[in-house]
Amino acid sequence: MTQDELKALVGQAALQYVVQGEIVGVGTGSTVNKFIEALAGIKDRIRGAVSSSVASTERLRAIGVPVFDANEVGELAVYIDGADEIDGGGHMIKGGGAALTREKIVAAQSRSFVCIADESKLVNALGNFPVPVEVVPMAAGRVTRQFAAMGGRATLRMKDGAPLVTDNGQHILDVSGLSITQPVAFESEVNQWPGVVTVGVFAHQKASVCLLGTASGVRTLKF
Ligand code: 5RP
Repeated sequence: MTQDELKALVGQAALQYVVQGEIVGVGTGSTVNKFIEALAGIKDRIRGAVSSSVASTERLRAIGVPVFDANEVGELAVYIDGADEIDGGGHMIKGGGAALTREKIVAAQSRSFVCIADESKLVNALGNFPVPVEVVPMAAGRVTRQFAAMGGRATLRMKDGAPLVTDNGQHILDVSGLSITQPVAFESEVNQWPGVVTVGVFAHQKASVCLLGTASGVRTLKF
């Protein structure tokens, strides 16, 4: 099976976690796009969605799913999103699609986080994938030096020759060279650096379940 087929497999499998008559939290990325395609088939059985990005909002509206602002609704039963890496404890690196801040907000508003990913995303320790960090632009230089002091190399994410601007009007640093063996402590530390909006380590908002697409089918990991 191709990686695209594995993503479609877990996108379809995630439908079983969508609670009928309720509002579902929806993440961002190519795997979530497969979930949104599958959601089209049951859209009349849900009230709507809270979305983690402008891109997902557009896709949800295109298939006729009402999208609510996070402030209009209370706690959600379930949040469904992909990951760039997930370890054996359900901790993840996210933000490859630059939507990490809104993803963490919707995840925090949800009782359970169902991660959908192909098997290439499962790792022993987080950090091979560069950690995305959303920063207020004026803090980028100092945050870069703080990462250097812990052995990380931070690079400003670019798009079309200019710094990428997130849905929140901020910039992204991608930090390589880190091996994150203590994800909860790492997330807590980096998140309190001035100018850091969100670090793309999801340890406090870790997955409850991961639906992993493998050559032999969907493997369900529970954390
Ligand atoms: C976006 C994310 C995505 O969930 C992550 O990048 C995985 O994306 P994909 O499903 O395309 O591999 O965190 O900010």
